[in-house]
Amino acid sequence: MLIGNAKVYSIISGKGGVGKSLFTAELAYYLSSLGRRILIIDGDMGLSNIEVVFNIKTKGTLNDVINYGKSINDIITQASPRIDVISSGSGVRELNFLSSLDRQGLVSSILDLQYKYDAILIDTSSGMSEFSLQLASMSDEIICLLTPEPSSFTDLYGMIKVMVQDFKKDRFCVVTNMVETETKGDFLFQKFAEVCSRFLIVSLDYLGSVPFDENVKKLVASQKLPIRQNPSSEHTHMIKKVSKQFELYLMSRPELSQFWTELSGVA
Ligand SMILES: Nc1ncnc2c1ncn2[C@@H]1O[C@H](COP(=O)(O)OP(=O)(O)OP(=O)(O)O)[C@@H](O)[C@H]1O
Ligand SMILES: [Mg+2]
Repeated sequence: MLIGNAKVYSIISGKGGVGKSLFTAELAYYLSSLGRRILIIDGDMGLSNIEVVFNIKTKGTLNDVINYGKSINDIITQASPRIDVISSGSGVRELNFLSSLDRQGLVSSILDLQYKYDAILIDTSSGMSEFSLQLASMSDEIICLLTPEPSSFTDLYGMIKVMVQDFKKDRFCVVTNMVETETKGDFLFQKFAEVCSRFLIVSLDYLGSVPFDENVKKLVASQKLPIRQNPSSEHTHMIKKVSKQFELYLMSRPELSQFWTELSGVA
């Protein structure tokens, strides 16, 4: 099989509201500024922060592909130069109930995407279906978001445990978000890594921390993407630092994507 360029990265968390969608949008923006072609698969089912920060309305959802015969290309919306978005809508939930013929059709149209992009970012949402959990677990890399809230810690641990035990994953990247200081972010990661290493066989790579910033919340609420709006803010500096760390990490893993081979297998 001819393999395209695209690598696939999933952004996950235990609990909701920890900043996955904003981080996905900002990582996409950073990568696109380096000339990469990025596709975001937006897993949010309600009001999507990906649509909010890019100030777009997507043309349709995977639901329209599954149930109403639209093609994947009909539902791709450009968000910014070199960034496209696909909304999954409630389609992700329905993937579990597809007939194998429908699933094959959907999978083959997703397979075509590997030639159009350099990276595909899957912004997952809480309440994931079995199939979308499977998609995330097939990703070339998984980036976990962790915040200082205790429930973020325990829920992420639970999520990683499922990925390790049921989906045989053994490697995750971690970003701490909404932390008070960089040092506190590093400490939070250390504590998390310690608990994981006590109970699971897993390797965690720390990408760094993003501090809590009230202004970021305000920008998002007024439909602005902080990295684009405030290129020299501390927030932008930290997002770029984490993104560069991710790039360094990727350089140590130059293998071809496994995602596409595995995806053909689940059709
Ligand atoms: N570093 C930060 N500082 C301040 N606010 C932040 C930061 N990161 C994210 N937020 C805010 O937190 C809220 C939740 O963010 P976001 O929607 O990205 O989370 P999510 O994990 O995608 O949520 P869901 O699980 O519901 O999809 C948003 O209002 C966002 O602007
Ligand atoms: Mg979200």
